[in-house]
Amino acid sequence: MNVLNLGAGGFIGSHLTRRLLTEGHHVTGIDIHSDKIEDCQPHPCFTYQELDISKSDSELNELIKKSDLVIDLIAHANPGIYVRKPLDVFSLNFVENLKIAEACVEFGKRLIQFSSCEVYGKTVGSIQPEMLKNPDSPVLAIFSEDTTPFILGPVNKHRWIYSCAKQLLERVLHAYGLEHKLNYTIIRPFNFIGPEIDYLPTEGEGIPRVFSYFMEALLNGTAMKLVGGGHHKRCYTYIDDAINCILKIVENSDNICDREIFNIGTPGNEISIRGLALLMQELYVKVFGLSPQDLKPVEDISAEEFYGAGYDDSDRRIPDISKAQNLLGWHPQYDVRQTLELSMQYYLKQSGHLPLIRHGIPGK
Ligand code: NAD
Ligand code: UGA
Repeated sequence: MNVLNLGAGGFIGSHLTRRLLTEGHHVTGIDIHSDKIEDCQPHPCFTYQELDISKSDSELNELIKKSDLVIDLIAHANPGIYVRKPLDVFSLNFVENLKIAEACVEFGKRLIQFSSCEVYGKTVGSIQPEMLKNPDSPVLAIFSEDTTPFILGPVNKHRWIYSCAKQLLERVLHAYGLEHKLNYTIIRPFNFIGPEIDYLPTEGEGIPRVFSYFMEALLNGTAMKLVGGGHHKRCYTYIDDAINCILKIVENSDNICDREIFNIGTPGNEISIRGLALLMQELYVKVFGLSPQDLKPVEDISAEEFYGAGYDDSDRRIPDISKAQNLLGWHPQYDVRQTLELSMQYYLKQSGHLPLIRHGIPGK
């Protein structure tokens, strides 16, 4: 299949590019950065084109026209940007992504659109605890694709512009499916992590996701900072598990994914952010045998101080993955310790804390 992979140079996009090539697909990768896919080039089945999708409508349309499948991963995907540049988030994550969807409608192409678990927002237990007998029950945090309503914060908490842009795009795809037979599949990832999730904070501009902050604190012997005490919870999914599920959606046996939304996540991997920090410290010493002297005690920091005004947070989110299990036969394999071990190992090798071994791409 000729796959147009938009955002191929990103975290998920780069892992996906490697797997698509391994599975024998022809891949055209589009991005504005290619450092994460340098190892894929040259490859007889891979073409990389550096293209800013906001400046190249006609070129992008030609690429969509020539493809069998369009996968759209392009977005601003870090909460720091939602708070600092909310208009850029709206413009890229909705306006530019909408153009891709419209081209898929025009040329009759199948579209796999990456949305986010952020669309679900907060739990009802977090906004109205006094109304509930057990506001901390995990049942209130289990989110299902086709039944769970979305709860977002007020407009002055502009973190939610990301969630809202993703939600609106999903609703437009659904409407295009109804009125113009657009064949789409929407994916809602729940906190994937793995090698090259993000740059480390001191290596790039902006605010990467929490794993990178904690990893950098370990590498530099500084304190991990817990926003609001680190009480919020996430379910982490190892990138290889996620890619296995995405591949099944790409294959789309018996058209089972047509006009469906899938959560991809690992419900059993729930951990608080404080728990994540402490587990990473434990693995650093006990699994990797590195010096406990390098570890500083974790520190609390306010959300305002860390992100600036307008930050708000998802308190808890547990994916209901019964749809992916039943329709795709997909079951995540990696528990949270393995997920962290493999992700940390990559950064420890890159930074010289552990010996480095490089692997090639099959068929190259
Ligand atoms: P990422 O930031 O690593 O990847 C996004 C890619 O888009 C980057 O390589 C970036 O350079 C590229 N890009 C940005 N602007 C561009 C432009 N104008 N033209 C061309 N390319 C551009 O993020 P990711 O973690 O790989 O996420 C991929 C998708 O999945 C995003 O839509 C994100 O919202 C969604 N998502 C990811 C997660 C996760 O766990 N990683 C969770 C929820 C949703
Ligand atoms: C992320 C991003 O929105 C997207 O990548 C994506 O849509 C989604 O979640 C996902 O990956 O599924 P979030 O989980 O809030 O959102 O992103 P992180 O930056 O990784 O933050 C996780 C938690 O850690 C938040 O509560 C944050 O406040 C906290 N945090 C972050 C810290 O306590 N310390 C830090 O140094 C950084």
